[in-house]
Amino acid sequence: MTNNNTGQIEFWNGDHGLAWARHADTVDVMFSDITDAVLVAAEVGVGDRVLDLGCGNGGTTLAAAERVTAIGTVTAVDVSGPMIDRAHERADAANLVNVTFLLSDAAVYPFAEQSFDKLISRLGAMFFDNPAAVFARLGPALAPGGRVALGVWRGPRENLWAMEPVAAAKPFLEMPPRPGPEDPGPFSFADPDRVRRVLVGSGWQSIELTPLDFQLPLGRTMEDALAFVLEMGPLSTPLGEVTGENRTRAIDAINRVLEDNTCDDGIVRLAGACWIVTAQAG
Ligand SMILES: C[S@@+](CC[C@H](N)C(=O)[O-])C[C@H]1O[C@@H](n2cnc3c(N)ncnc32)[C@H](O)[C@@H]1O
Repeated sequence: MTNNNTGQIEFWNGDHGLAWARHADTVDVMFSDITDAVLVAAEVGVGDRVLDLGCGNGGTTLAAAERVTAIGTVTAVDVSGPMIDRAHERADAANLVNVTFLLSDAAVYPFAEQSFDKLISRLGAMFFDNPAAVFARLGPALAPGGRVALGVWRGPRENLWAMEPVAAAKPFLEMPPRPGPEDPGPFSFADPDRVRRVLVGSGWQSIELTPLDFQLPLGRTMEDALAFVLEMGPLSTPLGEVTGENRTRAIDAINRVLEDNTCDDGIVRLAGACWIVTAQAG
């Protein structure tokens, strides 16, 4: 089994990572239900030492730092330079002194033994070439009985926020080949059996998957929603490659989906479906 995250490291340091960093506040609005569910499931509280896996722009890191207060700490790791820079800026703006950001591949970073009480991740656990190897290394970094809570997507069919724009625009686009169900990517933890296999094989205990179903707001305005679909979602790569009439048609089709799903308050909402995965260090 390989343990090579080069492709994802390039991806999250390229245009995609830059777009996620630019739209950090939109991302936090979109995923706020997952943030809350993860922090509650991990039982993050005053004085905890928390590790945030695949922290991106630090939305969950900042929320956890508030909960642990100044007597706790949050360490956050991510491979994306643009997003870690953004996370630093946001922590500085909030005057937080109890957070540390690590720009590193979590699969290789040498975390000290028993240095954390809680491991959290909002959508940052599904991009490893060999997740079993990563979670096997993370186990000893937690104190015995330390708790993990991961927010991960269920399958694409249940996640209309991602797939409805794709269904509408794909007749006009050259879509990349679909990744296999266990290839690194947003839906690689959709299968509960695979999640259990990865965590049991890595020495974690008391594994539970709880569904989280919610209406996902694509930001706060129609502009946020369009920016997400064009720059950050699954259509960002094929849209970056199409020109002329096909591009116009694809964007018209996306706009129709967004308009059809605009609520009375002007916010675009579509169904989102996650697993909140919890487990304990052995
Ligand atoms: C979907 S984004 C989620 C970011 C953030 N947790 C959030 O909810 O906004 C996935 C994140 O995983 C990070 N990631 C991917 N592979 C990684 C690795 N090997 N080590 C650390 N972070 C990784 C990406 O850089 C990206 O920030």
